[in-house]
Amino acid sequence: MGKLSGKIALVTGASKGIGQSIARLLGAEGATVVVNYATSREGAEQTVAEITSAGGEAWLMQGDFSNHEDITRTFAEIRRRHGRLHVLVNNAGIAGFGPLEQVTGEEFHRLFNLNVLGLVLSMQAAVPLMVEGGSVINIGSLGGSMPSAYGSIYSATKGAVNNLSISLSKELGPKQIRVNALNPGLTITEGLQASGFMQGERYEAAIKATPLGRAGQPDDIARIAVFLASDDAFWVTGQVIQAAGGITL
Ligand SMILES: NC(=O)c1ccc[n+]([C@@H]2O[C@H](COP(=O)([O-])OP(=O)(O)OC[C@H]3O[C@@H](n4cnc5c(N)ncnc54)[C@H](OP(=O)(O)O)[C@@H]3O)[C@@H](O)[C@H]2O)c1
Repeated sequence: MGKLSGKIALVTGASKGIGQSIARLLGAEGATVVVNYATSREGAEQTVAEITSAGGEAWLMQGDFSNHEDITRTFAEIRRRHGRLHVLVNNAGIAGFGPLEQVTGEEFHRLFNLNVLGLVLSMQAAVPLMVEGGSVINIGSLGGSMPSAYGSIYSATKGAVNNLSISLSKELGPKQIRVNALNPGLTITEGLQASGFMQGERYEAAIKATPLGRAGQPDDIARIAVFLASDDAFWVTGQVIQAAGGITL
């Protein structure tokens, strides 16, 4: 019996990177995992295959979490299949970097629509399905409390994730639903590789500033997500957990 046996978990953005690892480890601990993706069907199918070939249960659900209708459709399908939800991992997120003069309304809304509004609408739709002991894990970023230069809008979205998580932990505490922000530092994923950040001087500087001396791997974050999802963490809510190899302000 795994730590999460009998639990139903939704992981958004589980076709690659941190979300894929979280889905895999939740499945390995016995959760039935709903694997959401927006565009990468093949990656999401691989996530489901990894879980099921290890003896777990998982199913695929396409949905753009910056789109209210898709969010509603996703939770309606979870209600139809399972009638309840124990774990929600709001992992889907996008980054964008650039100088102040290049900030546009379009880019602002692109980042806020997924990283902030999508997360709020996801929680709004999830809570009526969540049972006592439910756990919401919002994937923020170290940048939410340690903003870097040229990341103003991204770090603003992730600062919002921190405060939303704390506020909603207080609101949902009486329902015995826990809400925590789990905030990776630099983590080697497809998204990070595609950003070009790993080729730059800022990557070397970030590694130097990390007491544990390396970049994170998706499983480093996923192990903490398993803990937060499990009943072992029943006394942990409203926390902003920095998962970044020891970097501090
Ligand atoms: N990697 C890092 O260094 C790092 C550091 C701090 C925080 N984070 C945070 O960790 C989370 C995951 O990052 P990552 O590096 O693993 O990203 P990634 O490798 O780029 O993967 C992003 C995932 O999000 C999904 N996604 C993107 N837009 C979506 C949408 N509109 N609706 C639903 N899903 C969507 C993608 O699905 P499709 O491929 O199907 O489109 C993909 O599964 C993000 O919230 C990110 O801000 C990452």
